Amino acid sequence: MTSNQRTEDKMHGSIFVLLKRYVESTYDYSTWRRLLEKVGVNHTYQMQEMYPTDELFAIVHQASEDTGIPAYDLMERYGEFLVPDLLLVYKKYIKAEWRTYEMLLNTEEAMHGAVKKEDGRTTPPKLLVTKQGENRLIIDYHSKRRMAGVAVGIVRGIAKYYGEAEKVTVTRLTDSMAERVQILVDFER
Ligand code: HEM
Repeated sequence: MTSNQRTEDKMHGSIFVLLKRYVESTYDYSTWRRLLEKVGVNHTYQMQEMYPTDELFAIVHQASEDTGIPAYDLMERYGEFLVPDLLLVYKKYIKAEWRTYEMLLNTEEAMHGAVKKEDGRTTPPKLLVTKQGENRLIIDYHSKRRMAGVAVGIVRGIAKYYGEAEKVTVTRLTDSMAERVQILVDFER
């Protein structure tokens, strides 16, 4: 094994299983099979395994080439799509009284904290969520994986999950491909 393989970044299987679900539900199963074949992946993603982050990027970029939809946009849509399933997996960490605002404020400690506790191999992105006044949260996303599109999508997905999509506005402030990206979340009360 080369040192390159040893240090390869990996992510939790849930992220890949939900990408498959996104492609299947937006397109179909044969589209998913075709994508995997084109990028040379020949395993089936399992919830409890870890897989190379590069595979996710390869699949998304191939999908972008095939559909003509920019990769960043696909990442956002996928992020939005995965929320209900992701919340189902980690539902025991969610408080019944939470809505979008509280969920976002508690993501770092309660949710990504739970992810790390349940599986020590995971390294979810660092999210610093701060209140700015009564109606605004600022999320500082930090990850070498540069998946801000997924982050923006997840925030939109959380608002939709709580039936608050109409009154929650999500704005990405920094360059979409940066390691540190600032996301504004405004609440209409
Ligand atoms: C609310 C419940 C949430 C759960 C249960 C959850 C769970 C997870 C899990 C399991 C991973 C894979 C981690 C790994 O394999 O190392 C992950 C990654 C990720 N999460 Fe979350 N997450 C939540 C909220 C959020 C929120 C609010 C955001 C955005 C603001 C976010 C952004 C991301 C991104 C972008 C990744 C991809 C990896 C990366 O960027 O480095 N998550 N999350």
